Amino acid sequence: MWWQDAVVYQVYPRSFQDSDGDGIGDLRGIEQRLDHLAWLGVDALWLSPIYPSPMHDFGYDVADYKGVDPVFGSLDDFDRVVDAARERGLRVLMDVVPCHTSIEHPWFREHPDWYIWRDEPNNWLSAFGGPAWSSLNGRWYLHSFYPEQPDLDWRNPEVVDAMQDALRFWIERGIAGYRVDAIDRLLKDPELRDDPPASDPYGLPVSDDEAKLALTNSRNAPDTGSALAKMREAVGDHLLVGEVYLPSAKWQPYLEHLDVAFAFELLLADWDAAVMRRAIEGSTRRPGAAWVLSNHDFGRLGTRFGHANARAAALMLLTLPGPAFLYQGDEIGQADGPGGERAYDRAGRDRFRHPMQWDPSSTGGFTSGEPWLPAVDPERTNVEAQHDDPRSMLSLVRDLLTQRRLLGGGLELLDAAPGVLAYARGDHAIAINTTGEERPAPASGDVVLETGPGALRKGTLAPHAGVISMGLPGSQKG
Ligand code: GLC
Repeated sequence: MWWQDAVVYQVYPRSFQDSDGDGIGDLRGIEQRLDHLAWLGVDALWLSPIYPSPMHDFGYDVADYKGVDPVFGSLDDFDRVVDAARERGLRVLMDVVPCHTSIEHPWFREHPDWYIWRDEPNNWLSAFGGPAWSSLNGRWYLHSFYPEQPDLDWRNPEVVDAMQDALRFWIERGIAGYRVDAIDRLLKDPELRDDPPASDPYGLPVSDDEAKLALTNSRNAPDTGSALAKMREAVGDHLLVGEVYLPSAKWQPYLEHLDVAFAFELLLADWDAAVMRRAIEGSTRRPGAAWVLSNHDFGRLGTRFGHANARAAALMLLTLPGPAFLYQGDEIGQADGPGGERAYDRAGRDRFRHPMQWDPSSTGGFTSGEPWLPAVDPERTNVEAQHDDPRSMLSLVRDLLTQRRLLGGGLELLDAAPGVLAYARGDHAIAINTTGEERPAPASGDVVLETGPGALRKGTLAPHAGVISMGLPGSQKG
């Protein structure tokens, strides 16, 4: 399968490249920048939603599953991106949002029975805080996210038909598969019973209010597999990557129908060797982990793990076995920003969505107009300056993309000094110093790739360093 060890580049269309000067990225802009992705060496790009939308959640509130929002362009522009990508050996993944539509989707007016209603709210909570129910005409509709995103009822066969139709639409236009949004919310308790009080921790970060509840009825219903099977039926053997916000121990029913699930335990781990080791161990107990360390919801490598660790984080992301997802801008170590003067996202995620920085100009080459969010620091961090510099983060990421194809299969976690994460991939060994001090490196052979000069010297790993070396036959395995 093409995706087995693929690197997928996440494009956040609003912030990638603007082609018409309105300050918002678009499909023509993406087309113009495909050479960057081909040069970098990724296998595919994933487009965050481009569907018509009132943009209360920037496209994760879909008003038409079979169209393109005019702010991004047209269906023709979309076809051009797919063709231009194909010419460069790149595949395109779309983002499907099956659990809810926009409140402005005609379905909400024309087919209210396609949604989930109750005479009065239960205790379910919205992911963004507050109750998951809002009232309309004397009844209450469910919204697991914003009130502008009513949840669809996947137990209604008409909903299944409509969503299958939408899934087929883009497959027929030549995409390679989907990233499936918020899929743990697909099916809930059919009787809409309260979430009982929590007896165990959820296993992934949730809000303080959510942590008080077991969250067993509001999501992840036992029969979720039956709905996932319908998605699989519609897409054939095209790739389905699940955004399953559950600990890996609960992935099994999802992986029976989806190909891979994002490994949130690692995404949300602290930059600490022991914590990351546990997350990797848990997520690799069975095949099916898709690695991701940053995206439009959680922020960037350089900010979350600290600027000093951005290179080692990229090295880890790109040397674990299985598909890896790289968020636009992380290849140059772009940082989160302050957001704009006006807050667009009520959940505070604007700061993860500042425009891509292509050159040192004031808008980073993103737009000829006024960008919807300002560039963060294009004069310091941009593609142009890093392109031909062999010591840049961009060069490191490009080298990693080449090198990862030469790593052996499998994964063995190795014993290492405290603060050092180490693993073997076939005859290669990877070591990452998660601390700000020197640390003894696990025994290994010649260095193949390092995060910076002197990362490994005389058996010692420099602070924040990451190294790929040839392994030693018979080195101690943990
Ligand atoms: C996913 C998306 C996020 C969105 C939410 C609701 O988690 O990544 O951006 O707000 O689903 O669709």
